[in-house]
Amino acid sequence: MFLVSFPPLVTAQCKAGIVGTFPHVNARTSEQFDQWLTDIKNSLAAHSASHPSATAAPYGVNLIVHRTNARFEPDLALVVKHQVPFVITCLGHPGKVVEAVHAYGGTVFCDVTSAAHARKSVDAGVDGLICVGAGAGGHASNQSAFSLVREIREFWDGCLVLGGGINDGHQIRAAEALGADLVYMGTRFIATQESNAQQEFKQMVIDSDVSDLIYTDRLSGVHANFLKPSLDKWGVDVSTLPPKAPDMSSLTDTTAKLWKDLWSAGQGVATIHDAPAVAALVSRIADEYDKACRLGPSQALRRSSTAA
Ligand SMILES: Cc1cc2nc3c(=O)[nH]c(=O)nc-3n(C[C@H](O)[C@H](O)[C@H](O)COP(=O)(O)O)c2cc1C
Repeated sequence: MFLVSFPPLVTAQCKAGIVGTFPHVNARTSEQFDQWLTDIKNSLAAHSASHPSATAAPYGVNLIVHRTNARFEPDLALVVKHQVPFVITCLGHPGKVVEAVHAYGGTVFCDVTSAAHARKSVDAGVDGLICVGAGAGGHASNQSAFSLVREIREFWDGCLVLGGGINDGHQIRAAEALGADLVYMGTRFIATQESNAQQEFKQMVIDSDVSDLIYTDRLSGVHANFLKPSLDKWGVDVSTLPPKAPDMSSLTDTTAKLWKDLWSAGQGVATIHDAPAVAALVSRIADEYDKACRLGPSQALRRSSTAA
């Protein structure tokens, strides 16, 4: 997540046994990106050496494949140099990334918000699809996960990851029943000790419910969910803003205010009530998942994560 997923969050996630990823533009320069990749690799290698029975999960990088992103080419070269094991592409055609990452044996998944986008990614040779359904944080589709997953499963047998409003082990179990192999979680990890989000942002995620979200394309040119209290604080009324052309330069430093001060979160805010350490959160989610598997869906889904 832009301005949220920095190396402390990524390494904590991997050490807790889940894949931690970050958008390459979180590093302010390509030089810093290079250094972060070295630091992450060293930190995970040291952890795995000292925990042979609980080695770290792979880390990943999210590459913004958009013509307005001047960092794309130099940072793809750094991904290749460090042989980043897992690469996610978003906002553009993944073909070039697939070619470069497959050459060293890495894995490429592509973020998709529609079946049409999924078909293009499959044709480009990606190894997996990350289907981001309605209610997700950041740029989100308005297609229900129920509809999106089943539509994509009509033509895609490969690895499918589901994202959008997923916070707990019960939802992971439900995603599996729907046809997903893995899940993608963003908003839940904003409110963790290791996240780079400002304290006020974490608290807003905890205090907000779904009525505090606004789904608009007026801020970045692409529909995304934002926390209304953060817009109110800066006097931003999206109903008065003109349409904006999609411009991914808003994901870089030039207009960072959009993500730095006007905060995005998804419908997961409905059930986020704390900001735990990542290891404690992952352990709680694993317990919920086990319980959901043992109890079966009808009973499991009656129990909320905090009541588990
Ligand atoms: C604050 C925030 C920043 C995000 N930044 C990015 C980003 O830079 N690149 C990207 O591909 N997705 C970004 N996302 C979307 C996430 O990668 C993911 O698709 C989403 O968080 C999943 O839905 P959830 O938030 O409901 O769990 C962001 C999401 C949030 C909440």
